[in-house]
Amino acid sequence: MEKKKIVFATNNAHKLEELRQIMGDRYQVLSLADIDCHEDIPETADTIEGNARLKAEYIKTHYGYDCFSDDTGLEIDALGGEPGVMSARYGGVAHDSERNIDKVLRLMADVPMEQRTAHFRTAICLIRDGEERLFEGRVDGHILMERHGTGGFGYDSIFQPNEGDGRTFAQMTGEEKNAISHRGRAVAALTTYLASL
Ligand code: IMP
Repeated sequence: MEKKKIVFATNNAHKLEELRQIMGDRYQVLSLADIDCHEDIPETADTIEGNARLKAEYIKTHYGYDCFSDDTGLEIDALGGEPGVMSARYGGVAHDSERNIDKVLRLMADVPMEQRTAHFRTAICLIRDGEERLFEGRVDGHILMERHGTGGFGYDSIFQPNEGDGRTFAQMTGEEKNAISHRGRAVAALTTYLASL
């Protein structure tokens, strides 16, 4: 049977790969490049849910495809929930993960381990047949004092999930991370919904 096409509003190769691992059996997941969308999609909302909605609505309005988009924030308790919606550009330069991590580690240099609690939250907005739905996933953990591991992306090397064996996301395989991650859980909610239709 031919797979159904669905646009994932991203060009992040890591995220696409994660999503294809999770949904690839049933869906042909297209990226923004696959549909020839090369412009910067606005992400000006002040919540992750709002940004997910903005991106999905943009694709639906300008390209007409059914689609989904995700937005993720790392929320660190000792930093009052920051970087949150600023996660991609916390260090001052968009998508520069090394600077983002440097800033977090600098701000938290004196915070003891038991107070370094944090979580990732992902919101996914699906627009399908004119209907809009939100899905959410979350994973709780701790911010380590320094980087561990070289896999993954973003803040993976300083985030140690509580459900695990002490490794950071950057020390896990993609499969291990997907099984417990914020995005893995939000996508599981999305795919359960799509499968129920
Ligand atoms: P986005 O909204 O998914 O683009 O995520 C915003 C920022 O959060 C990214 O630029 C990364 O720095 C960070 N981020 C998102 N997902 C992950 C993840 O799975 N691991 C580590 N960092 C992430």
